Amino acid sequence: MGVGRAVGIVGTGMSVPERRLTNFDLAQMVDTSDEWIRTRTGIVERRIVRPDQTTSDLATAAAEQALSRADLSPSQVDFVLVATVTPDMIFPSTASLVQHRLGARRAGAADVGVACSGFIYALAMGAQFIATGLYETVLVIGAECMSHLVDWTDRSTCVLFGDGAGAVVLQPVPPGYGLLGIDLGSDGSSADHLKVVDDYPANPQAAKFGRHPYIRMNGNEVFKFAVRIQGEACERVLHRCHLRPAEVDWFIPHQANIRIIDAAAKRLGLPPEKVFVNVHRYGNTSAASIPIALAEADEQGLLRRGDNVLMVGFGAGLTWGAALVRWSQGKEGTGKAYG
Ligand code: UT7
Repeated sequence: MGVGRAVGIVGTGMSVPERRLTNFDLAQMVDTSDEWIRTRTGIVERRIVRPDQTTSDLATAAAEQALSRADLSPSQVDFVLVATVTPDMIFPSTASLVQHRLGARRAGAADVGVACSGFIYALAMGAQFIATGLYETVLVIGAECMSHLVDWTDRSTCVLFGDGAGAVVLQPVPPGYGLLGIDLGSDGSSADHLKVVDDYPANPQAAKFGRHPYIRMNGNEVFKFAVRIQGEACERVLHRCHLRPAEVDWFIPHQANIRIIDAAAKRLGLPPEKVFVNVHRYGNTSAASIPIALAEADEQGLLRRGDNVLMVGFGAGLTWGAALVRWSQGKEGTGKAYG
């Protein structure tokens, strides 16, 4: 990927809250049904934090698992990046809270706020620190408590989101492995289609559920954007890597809606067995969705050394990000086993 050292993912981890909110639970709260949610989104249930749980709790747990799987200690971490739009507080950054709780004393820390595209952006940023030779070990975390931003009276959005965190550890890897291509973009002219607002005086209905900023979305517009941009961004990344879609071993897209995932896979000509899907279990966890999916695929031993792993996300901005990683862990042609 341009100049500098090759940078790869040497450990993955994830953490989701225990509490499950099913479609049937939601049907008790708003005018919806399990059938509508399943057929329109593919979501069956999502995880929701307890009132005393925060984004930094989930992020810290995911990071600990990623470090342990990479056989690294927190003292070896040079930088912590947390992609989130649901920080514990406006400042300090959630990354600073995670850095302290991990005991990563040497590490710098910063948040990256690009909503659902945030993990791919943070991955690209973290990789540059290592490619340039500035750092050796960077933690990249995607962590969200989307339940804090949901308007629980709006059936068009409250059924979509969930809470969780995923993390990866980046380090130098042998040439030819690791992050081979990136495509990042933003179209701020479409910002109004997906945003967080705080208009309670104008929306007393929502105020009943607590006065906090909440998500407003033009779902149809975001849907159309997502279907188009995921295909385009992936095609650009593959072109830059001199790869054909048939050479992709795993497609790990943002888990927002099964229809969007299917459309992207179809456009790229990828068969279902190459597409990792867990949207039915977690819903849309924004910046956490790709690293959670990656951690699950890794834990299941699906990712073999030499595999071309294509990741893509889209979200508020409207923004997008796609990345191609040639998996560097395990033995050639085998997955990494976790005890
Ligand atoms: O990470 C980025 C975050 N955003 C996204 O990924 C969102 C992308 N967009 C989508 O996933 C889809 O647009 C949605 C799932 C949000 C909506 O699906 P859709 O097929 O685009 O439905 P729609 O918005 O066109 O609504 C169809 C109907 C409407 O009723 P009418 O006007 O046809 O009578 C809605 O009011 O479905 C109704 N509806 C619901 N009905 C039952 C909307 N939400 C619900 C619901 N339960 N939860």
